[in-house]
Amino acid sequence: MPVIIEPFRIKVVEPIALLTLAERRQRLQAANYNLFALPAEAVTFDLLTDSGTTAMSAAQWGAMMVADESYAGSRSFHRFEEVVRELTGFRHIIPTHQGRAAERILAQVMVPKGALVPNNSHFDTTRANIEYAGAEALDLVVEEASDPASPFPFKGNIDLPRLEEVCRRERDRIPFGMMTITNNTGGGQPAALENLRACSEILHRHGLPFILDACRFAENAYLIKLREPGQQDRQVAEIAREVFRLADGCTFSGKKDGLGNMGGLLAFNDAAVAEKARHLLILTEGFPTYGGCAARDLEALAVGLEEVLDEHYLEYRLASVRYLAEGLNAVGIPTVQPPGGHAVFIDARTLLPHIPSQQHPGQALACELYLEGGIRSCEIGSVMFGRRAQDGSFLPARLELVRLALPRRVYTQSHVDRILEIAAAVAARAGEIRGLEMTYAPPFLPHFTARFRPHTARAA
Ligand code: F0G
Repeated sequence: MPVIIEPFRIKVVEPIALLTLAERRQRLQAANYNLFALPAEAVTFDLLTDSGTTAMSAAQWGAMMVADESYAGSRSFHRFEEVVRELTGFRHIIPTHQGRAAERILAQVMVPKGALVPNNSHFDTTRANIEYAGAEALDLVVEEASDPASPFPFKGNIDLPRLEEVCRRERDRIPFGMMTITNNTGGGQPAALENLRACSEILHRHGLPFILDACRFAENAYLIKLREPGQQDRQVAEIAREVFRLADGCTFSGKKDGLGNMGGLLAFNDAAVAEKARHLLILTEGFPTYGGCAARDLEALAVGLEEVLDEHYLEYRLASVRYLAEGLNAVGIPTVQPPGGHAVFIDARTLLPHIPSQQHPGQALACELYLEGGIRSCEIGSVMFGRRAQDGSFLPARLELVRLALPRRVYTQSHVDRILEIAAAVAARAGEIRGLEMTYAPPFLPHFTARFRPHTARAA
């Protein structure tokens, strides 16, 4: 098979930071071993997130120049609304500045205190907004998702029997059910069309609305086309359109599959709910025809939402993620299987079995990847999700992962080849890597601002 190429040529470039080992060591110490504290100019390969880091196309930049920045009734809003409506079929389209703003409004409008919201896996901001409303966010992802080595193709599926059971038992507490596509928390794993259809059927049979967290809808649709029997001959856009039409509304961060650097949206079919949401929108986001975005952001998203469904783009996108995962596996680095849509998740617990969870194997690995070659990644393990029990003992996260998220259209194959060399060098000395001790833990969201130092004694 011919090499799958980046289906674009490069018109605008940015220099990349190339530091010496001594400089990286000094930067890492100054950042207290927390990669969020690094200045971006000290990072060679920034794989912290795929969110808002997309390289926009010439068509997007062009559209931004002709954006209509009118406060009310902007032409750019109508263009955005038309594209979103054609894609999703939703009647009411409400722009927000990013995904979590849509989640906050959704929670305030639809989630009363004491409610219960089932999802395959809530992303952390979705969970936080639901919990902030005094409700419970329940993850019902399938069993296979808890085994990083399982090659199950749809680890983003919701557990249908459990969903059915929860709907029966807790019907009166549930304002709506959700599905997050792809399932970021579980490794960027897709949900199958069959599973989405069944989830929609169960919720609707119980009289409950179905809301999608659609951040990575295009990657999910392409993975359906690649992996789900009977879907190979369909167009990705057609699959995506069908998925949206199973739901009654969505939250969306345009910073992912909107191919934008900022922007998001909330959509509903229900006019009464949409009206309440627009009232709240005006309080903190803005007038309903811009909602926290500049009109140029809306133009960028309108173009991005069409570009993201280009199958050459999606073929290259998913191939890059797979190439990175297979390259890591080839040098003995275990990753969550199968490769997901936007990122590769390294299983740090398996790679560094000598580092106990209290010493944060994922964070230690992320620091080594930086030290070795300037890669910035993100720990998704005991730093992010570890807890203290009432008796003060440490409750580790279920998995100790390090996420290498690929920004869209930013890095080329030779960048990925270099990332693989760096990772191989780190893997070759895995047994020497020491754990980290947390010296400062903030009251919430510890991964952003926690501080560390190398653990003094070598772990047993
Ligand atoms: N839902 C999912 C599945 C996400 O991955 C994110 C963001 C959000 C909602 C919130 O969107 O950032 O626009 O407010 N994920 C980013 C990440 C931050 O790095 O995975 P936002």
